[in-house]
Amino acid sequence: MRKLAAGNWKMNGTSSALCEAEAIGEVANGARAEVLICPPTTLLSRLSALLSESPVATGGQDCHAAASGAHTGDISADMLRDAGARYVILGHSERRTDHGETDEAVCAKVTAAWNARLAAIVCVGETGEERDAGNTLAVVTGQLKGSIPEGASAETLVVAYEPVWAIGTGRVPTTEQIGEVHDALRASLAERFGAEVADGIRLLYGGSVKGANAAEIFAVSNVDGALVGGASLKAADFGPIIQAL
Ligand code: G3H
Repeated sequence: MRKLAAGNWKMNGTSSALCEAEAIGEVANGARAEVLICPPTTLLSRLSALLSESPVATGGQDCHAAASGAHTGDISADMLRDAGARYVILGHSERRTDHGETDEAVCAKVTAAWNARLAAIVCVGETGEERDAGNTLAVVTGQLKGSIPEGASAETLVVAYEPVWAIGTGRVPTTEQIGEVHDALRASLAERFGAEVADGIRLLYGGSVKGANAAEIFAVSNVDGALVGGASLKAADFGPIIQAL
């Protein structure tokens, strides 16, 4: 399986960020891993065009569950596809928290993404309180079951484990903790979709990934890449992560 270095720019970046995307494209040339940038929607079209000759794929950060209609301010999966996207991040904890997205809502968005021929990157992760209470595995496998419709495949689904307490904090779980969750996610996918499908689905780790900790995290079994926030904004920071895969 080809590993994936996915950058989530979140609500960061205007036109001046396009030069960073170009520099990331240069790093991606010759990289072993697949490289993905999910910019804010305002940059998606331009970034997709700019990177069309490079191996970097582009993606959205969310989409609506409906294909079109009266949903002011929202973006459909088809619109993302039309703007050049091949992926869409769904169920990120910031969407779950800021917009009250439930597993059921995420599941409907995944179906919409698949209908538009986008691969879905479905995010799961426990809060600090849930980890302290010993509920991590129950929380993440519950989110996984509730957020993914029937019919998942290695081509259409990527799963990202992002402990909420590790996002943007500089705090990273131990490699044992990451391994325990990724093993449980793989087992849960195998139970539902069969071992062959589950083995092909990439499981990303996300939460304070940096050049300095990337190699250690990527050496953990069942870690097939990373979903990177802050460190994906600059080629100088994202480059070493891409190269560690
Ligand atoms: O989607 C990316 C994650 O939320 C990780 O963000 O690398 O800034 O901690 P971070």
